[in-house]
Amino acid sequence: MKEMNPIIDTFLIRLHERLEQYETTDPEIIAELKNILKLWPEVPSSGKLPSPQGSPVAKYLDIALSLGDTGSESSLAAAIRPLAPFLHWTFGYPPHPLHPNLESQVSFTQIIGPDDLGMADRLLIGLTLLAPETFYPAHMHPAVEIYIPIGGIGIWSKGNEQPTAKAPGTMILHQSGIVHTTASKLDPVLALYIWRGDLITSSKFITD
Ligand SMILES: [Fe+2]
Repeated sequence: MKEMNPIIDTFLIRLHERLEQYETTDPEIIAELKNILKLWPEVPSSGKLPSPQGSPVAKYLDIALSLGDTGSESSLAAAIRPLAPFLHWTFGYPPHPLHPNLESQVSFTQIIGPDDLGMADRLLIGLTLLAPETFYPAHMHPAVEIYIPIGGIGIWSKGNEQPTAKAPGTMILHQSGIVHTTASKLDPVLALYIWRGDLITSSKFITD
């Protein structure tokens, strides 16, 4: 476990810097970043032994990180790359009635949480990875979520807003309970998420 600490430490230092330095005029994002930073002292660097788990989607991680190397989140992409061998990829949703192959197109991995590489009780920090040409359909969860796109350009939508292409450099806020979607085009999309609030209730597809 000891050898993991420098990798997690570096990741957390880079992420903390990014959260502190992010410039936006969006008052809701400013407020949420403050909330996350308030909880930051509770995030130590040591966690449980990693138990890596692959996914059909994980093969796109390297491509997505390479896309991230030349973008606004290159320092986060560099901090994520050494974590790759330790990541535990999951899907976690029941089968979707309209999108039967999602498990091979979307995958998630937690890095920081109550039972993860780094331990925290009140924040979840992880990655969402979309294969090329993927639609991650409408879903919602009670946790407040900040997304930091790392590599690839996703098409993001929430509530009644028009879907919008967002490159690395722009953070995305999903307030508690808002329905949201993400899509990829020719490239995979890698984005870092931070959950705060209700971390127990999982995300659910909205199929109505
Ligand atoms: Fe979400």
